[in-house]
Amino acid sequence: MSRIARQPEIITFSPAARLTRLPVYAFARLDELKALARLEGADLIDLGLGNPDAPTPAPIVKAMTEALADVSLHGYPPFSGRPDFKQAIAAWMEERYGVRLDPESETLPLNGSKEGLAHLAMAYIDNDDIALVPDPCYPVHRRGTLLSGGIAHDIPLCADNGFQPDLGAIPTDIAARAKLLILNYPNNPTAAVASATLLEEAVAFCRRHRVLLVHDLAYGELFFDGKRPPSLLAVPGAREIGVEFHTLSKTFNMAGWRLGFAVGNSTVIKTLYALKTNIDYGTFGAVQKAGITALGLPEPEIEKIRNTYRLRRDLLVASLKDMGFPVEPPQATMYLWLPLPRSLGMSSTQFAETLLSKTGVVVTPGVAFGAAGEGFVRISMVCDETRLQEAMSRWRASGLMNL
Ligand SMILES: Cc1ncc(COP(=O)(O)O)c(C=O)c1O
Repeated sequence: MSRIARQPEIITFSPAARLTRLPVYAFARLDELKALARLEGADLIDLGLGNPDAPTPAPIVKAMTEALADVSLHGYPPFSGRPDFKQAIAAWMEERYGVRLDPESETLPLNGSKEGLAHLAMAYIDNDDIALVPDPCYPVHRRGTLLSGGIAHDIPLCADNGFQPDLGAIPTDIAARAKLLILNYPNNPTAAVASATLLEEAVAFCRRHRVLLVHDLAYGELFFDGKRPPSLLAVPGAREIGVEFHTLSKTFNMAGWRLGFAVGNSTVIKTLYALKTNIDYGTFGAVQKAGITALGLPEPEIEKIRNTYRLRRDLLVASLKDMGFPVEPPQATMYLWLPLPRSLGMSSTQFAETLLSKTGVVVTPGVAFGAAGEGFVRISMVCDETRLQEAMSRWRASGLMNL
């Protein structure tokens, strides 16, 4: 018998086409570059991801600690969410937006809104169905449709239109075939807020063309000019054709906790719930309990969080203006959408990579959010003021300015 050890056979499994046809997740590429820079000993200042840096407010952590000790929460939570959390969601929507919801049928807790957005697409999009998706957009708005085998029809968001979609420019045959329209205001990545009439126009468009309107209000609480961004559900007629997604990740610095919710049309909520019962068991009961405390935080606590971003925004805008960049202070979100001057002669990817290699400062190339994001980079305001000052002085020293 031969004593030579046989080499183990290498077996490879090809992933499903739905995965291989997706473009590389831009943040994954950025992660590789960051890991490489770290290996080389770089002191990175990461303004790339929208990952809030501050701790979750103490009352929420306390509620979670107490809930963790409650053994009745250790099992599977109710599939459709805890009734007390659903009531807290309904109360919060009424207090914030004057929108009255039936907690049972018009609210659904989620393991973060990204999960819900991806699953909503899966629940409604079949092969070759069309979703109307802004370009640029938060990636899951497009990828949810692509993963479901659908076609994302881009609606460009342009600076000269205040990053508002021109619904009238959507070809009639596309509108007739579309199943979903996705909107997100305040917007990631452009930081634009919705114009006074956009949501009304979107409701009228969707009613006319029988399209499901999906509004992502992830940044609803992060506004700086005293004007609360509107909820889609406050628009008359919206509930018949629309759902809205909310997250606790941003407002309450709870990104790691994975808690969000969907509200709106009860049939759509039921359909999303039906899909999810096949995939997950809902959110850990203790996290939902802590979520009740979060939604009940007094307004001054939220204002403190807003103020933190407001100060960071002012610091960044002043420094970037000083370097010659044409940038206006955003009225909401945790982002700056920075137009790159042509004089630099770089694509957004080249700019982000050069900035990273010269300074250790990470920003996201606009093209990561869609083709129409080319010519911009997104800066997340997720470091304290000392680190932001440091980022700005390294940036200035790199010479990557608008001279
Ligand atoms: C517009 C938008 N929607 C949803 C999410 C996802 O939030 P969550 O943490 O609830 O999944 C993000 C995260 O960056 C976002 O920017």
